[in-house]
Amino acid sequence: MTIIVPGSNTKKLASAVARLSGLKIAPKTVIKFPDGESYVRLMDSDLSGHKVFIIQTLYPKQNDCIIELMLTVDAAKRAGGKPVAVLPYAAYARQDKVFEKGEAFSLEVMGRTLKTLGAEMVIFVDAHFHRKVGAFDFFGIPARNISSLDLLLDYGKKLSKGKFTIVGPDKGSESFLSGLDGVVFLDKKKKFEDRDGKRSYRIETIVPTDMNGKTVLILDDMISGGGTMIGAAKALKKKGNRVFAGCVHGLFVSGSLEKLKNETEGIFCTDTIETEVSEVSVAGIIAEEIKRKK
Ligand code: R5P
Repeated sequence: MTIIVPGSNTKKLASAVARLSGLKIAPKTVIKFPDGESYVRLMDSDLSGHKVFIIQTLYPKQNDCIIELMLTVDAAKRAGGKPVAVLPYAAYARQDKVFEKGEAFSLEVMGRTLKTLGAEMVIFVDAHFHRKVGAFDFFGIPARNISSLDLLLDYGKKLSKGKFTIVGPDKGSESFLSGLDGVVFLDKKKKFEDRDGKRSYRIETIVPTDMNGKTVLILDDMISGGGTMIGAAKALKKKGNRVFAGCVHGLFVSGSLEKLKNETEGIFCTDTIETEVSEVSVAGIIAEEIKRKK
């Protein structure tokens, strides 16, 4: 048998996946003790031979989510199940290597811990560190990256009511948007200023000269502080373009969603993280992947 165990912050998405895949949700208790510690119990203590798809997005409060995920994988394993971690949004994916001496390798810690606990597979949705769709090895665990890009494009078409030019807000979006024809990638440059004897700089987004008067859809894998997307939206708007913006993972920290609403005619993301602009559901693509793996 195959069952789904939702993360306590991923119940809506997990229910949609269960409905679409025809699988049962297994009851789970999660308690947060007054001192901040977490407790997880799977109510079915005999999962012998069952595939257990733990659907747990890792935002907001990523550290709490990670502990809940790890405890759930352990509980599933102890109950005799075969745990598969389904991470719609995978936190710590940006520390995907040691950039500076002395740093921790956060992503490897995630992978090695999941492996040690007995996760048999990990399924990601548009993982930041792995920009290609398909199978790969995640620190010793078989993993798959599935993409919501087609869903974002379909929604963008509906929203802009017609043709649009797809824009990558910077070079960093190249791998996420690779495979799409006619994408315009913006560039960034440092603009230096001397004021009161002090030299400082700001990052300026460079828009190609022929990008004006168009309808554009800026797409990125994630929006966090929003600097990348806001810079691109402002620069494109300044040139008379109609601007729409979308991403997979909408973290929207530091009020960036409100700022983006002011700079665009429409802003949307998927429900890998539940936000007020999660217009695109990834439940269908997760359900398809689970059906293939169950
Ligand atoms: C970078 O590689 C990513 O694709 C995003 O462009 C970036 O993480 C967005 O961050 P922020 O919203 O803070 O500019």
